[in-house]
Amino acid sequence: MTSTPQPSSESLLGALRRQREFAAADEAAIEGLLSVRPPERMPRPEPVWDDAPVLVHDVVGERYHRLVLATPTIAATALAGQFLMITVPPKDGERILLPRPMAIHRRHPDAGNVEVIYGVAGRGTTALAGVVVGETLLVTGPLGRGFEFPEWTETEPTRTALMIGRGVGVCAVMGSVEDAARLGVDAVVVVSGRSGSNLIGLADCAELGAEVITVTDDDGSSRMPALAQRLRARFEAHPPDVILVCGAGVLARLAAELGAEWGVPVQVSLEAHMACGLGYCHGCAAPVATDPEVEGPLVCVDGPVFDAALPV
Ligand SMILES: Cc1cc2nc3c(=O)[nH]c(=O)nc-3n(C[C@H](O)[C@H](O)[C@H](O)COP(=O)(O)OP(=O)(O)OC[C@H]3O[C@@H](n4cnc5c(N)ncnc54)[C@H](O)[C@@H]3O)c2cc1C
Ligand code: FES
Repeated sequence: MTSTPQPSSESLLGALRRQREFAAADEAAIEGLLSVRPPERMPRPEPVWDDAPVLVHDVVGERYHRLVLATPTIAATALAGQFLMITVPPKDGERILLPRPMAIHRRHPDAGNVEVIYGVAGRGTTALAGVVVGETLLVTGPLGRGFEFPEWTETEPTRTALMIGRGVGVCAVMGSVEDAARLGVDAVVVVSGRSGSNLIGLADCAELGAEVITVTDDDGSSRMPALAQRLRARFEAHPPDVILVCGAGVLARLAAELGAEWGVPVQVSLEAHMACGLGYCHGCAAPVATDPEVEGPLVCVDGPVFDAALPV
């Protein structure tokens, strides 16, 4: 009998330290960038609780899993950039108490289903990976305030939206790629990942007619100076009309810099640890500076999408 080699406590501590360093760098990158959008700019549908049968559960690339969930109301009402809270069912007597937030990657209102793509991070997503087709997942959604395009009239010339996603952050921007296809907006999507086999959403972008720019850590093309140079060259003649980002603080900062240079609005979707996703637990404070006397905004209800601009 063979046994799986266990990581040493030293390598686990190293991984934890690197994760903390990465999180700190990410937090520093977005410092001073974000603000909450006025609520009237972004009305959102009423969330529902739904027992959603799992229609498909397959593997995407080397690291990710895709769930297709039958949930007609959410499929019909979800706005781009909104998310679900997914309760993972108990397995072998073990309960995962809190639901886990997941972006709605694709909406298929005609078929009454939505797609979610996730990576295994810890206990909850490990248990989620064991769910089989035909099981039912309790989902709450659609939640949060998603991405929006500026108000464009139909008589205006062709518009271009630049979406930038890294890792599963691509899922948060994919709803806007769908909106772009529906509204006749040209979409240019930067898909960033560790390696070519870890890029999410390439088939979706092809189906939706979006132009894709892939960048990876493996060949160094995902580094900020290289990406900045590539985007400046791509948009030299005509800058995009809006930039939507999810997946890394450094990407949010780059987008804010480009947004300032091109004079276009930037929106950034954030991740946070969430217990309820509904604004009840106050456990997901957003890194947005506010009056110290007043409780700051929450990622789950005031975001996850925020306006981003360089501090003046
Ligand atoms: C609005 C929103 C949308 C999201 N969309 C997706 C998605 O489409 N696909 C996807 O794979 N993931 C997504 N996430 C992240 C996902 O919710 C977490 O990976 C998941 O909750 C981890 O649960 P777990 O029990 O497996 O891991 P845990 O055991 O809870 O955590 C494992 C490790 O990941 C870290 N971690 C957990 N949650 C987060 C978080 N939210 N941010 C940063 N670090 C975290 C923990 O500190 C720990 O080190 C989203 C998060 C938010 C807030
Ligand atoms: S997750 Fe509970 S308030 Fe945001």
